This record gives sequence, structure tokens and C-alpha cells, in this order.
Amino acid sequence: MQKIHWHSFATAEKVAAAASQQILTAAEQAIKERGVFKLVLAGGSTPDKVYHLLSESRADWANWHIYYGDERCLPADHPERNSQMAQASLLGKVAIPAEQIHTMPTELGPEPAAAAYREVIAGVDSFDTVLLGMGEDGHTASLFPGHVNSPDETVHAIYNSPKPPPERVSLSAKTLSQTRQLLFLVTGEGKRDAVQQWRQGIILPVALIRPESGVDVYVDAAALG
Ligand code: 6PG
Repeated sequence: MQKIHWHSFATAEKVAAAASQQILTAAEQAIKERGVFKLVLAGGSTPDKVYHLLSESRADWANWHIYYGDERCLPADHPERNSQMAQASLLGKVAIPAEQIHTMPTELGPEPAAAAYREVIAGVDSFDTVLLGMGEDGHTASLFPGHVNSPDETVHAIYNSPKPPPERVSLSAKTLSQTRQLLFLVTGEGKRDAVQQWRQGIILPVALIRPESGVDVYVDAAALG
């Protein structure tokens, strides 16, 4: 059973402000307790506001380690890459050491990239914060409704994504759940149906993410309905 804490805000801007503050607080605590902050970035467009706010904040960037929840199989410098969005709105503006930014090498193709990324996360027993978005069909990362992925893989090669491009790489639901904190960022009326189904207990991919501490959903009024 998924434990969900709903945090609703009037606007997408207020969602972003609250989420970025929560991330900065988690980072401070993680670095104080363990010397590092392991953050998994979400793709898509919703997190862009959060990344911009983080880029304007003060943080102990030298101890941040960046991972990705999923990535599209496109050339490394393609504007539609999740890594390009993160680079433009956050990573290119703050002093996180390059060797601590773990980009998914999806320009290699789904399987080689997934195999490489399994090695990257093999040494991570838990992330500190995982950020995720949600599609209008209730997908998250590149985990889509009706798709069956091997349950014992930590990283999946995805071949038939209904959201272009068709080929992607995604952390598994189990891997995404290995985190001290999980924030979903859900805004806009296009997400309303999926939010309602989620709240009714329909097992969408978002409902498969089940960290011990539950999930925090930061949602605006437009998406909550
Ligand atoms: C992607 C993302 C995907 C995204 C949702 C929401 O590669 O597109 O990983 O899971 O988070 O589709 O996208 P928006 O934030 O653009 O609505």
C-alpha cells in the first residue's frame, strides 16, 4: 500500500517554491548526517521551475550527487533530453563537481545505456531525495500504464514509450522507491484525471513508487480539481 501525503498549493509557482525549499532542507540534513546529498532529478517540463529556484539558492553544492530517474534515447546534446533541461536550468549554474553528475548515456541506445547505469547506481543503497513528475496517463519516469518491466532489474531499457521518443531508459519502481524522501511534482489541469484516479486507489504507475517514508505529492489547484 502506498502512503501518500498530499500538499496542495494555489499555483504551480507556489508548488515550485515549496518543493525547492523542501529539497534544500533535505540536502542540508543529508550533508550534516552523511556528508553527501544524493538527488534523483525528474524529467519533463514541470520540474523546470524548481530547478531555476534551486539555481538561485545557496547550498553546499560540492556535496551534491546528481542522478536521473529516466532519460530519452536521443543524442547527448539534443534539446529534448532531460539532461539538457537540467543543465540549462540548474546544473550549468551551480558548482556541483562534474564527476558527481551521473547522466544516463542514452545516446548509446536503450540496453547499453541501461547496463551502464546499473553499474552507476550499484553502489547507492539509498537516495536522499527522488523527484518525479506524472504524465496525463499516470506514468512516472518512463514507467507507463500497461507496460510490464522485469521486476528484478534496477534499470529498465524502454522500447515502446507512448510518450515520444519511443526509446528510453528508466530507473525501476523499486529503485525509485529506495529513497529517504520522494517528491512528486504535479501541476496543470491536464493531470486532473490521473490525480483523481490515483486518489481513488487505481494502480497507475505513480502508485507503484512505495518508499518506506511514503510519497509527498506537491500539487496545484488546477491538477487537484
Ligand atoms: C519524460 C519524463 C516524464 C515526465 C512526465 C510529466 O521523460 O518526459 O520523465 O515522466 O515527468 O511525462 O511531464 P511534464 O512535467 O512535462 O508534464
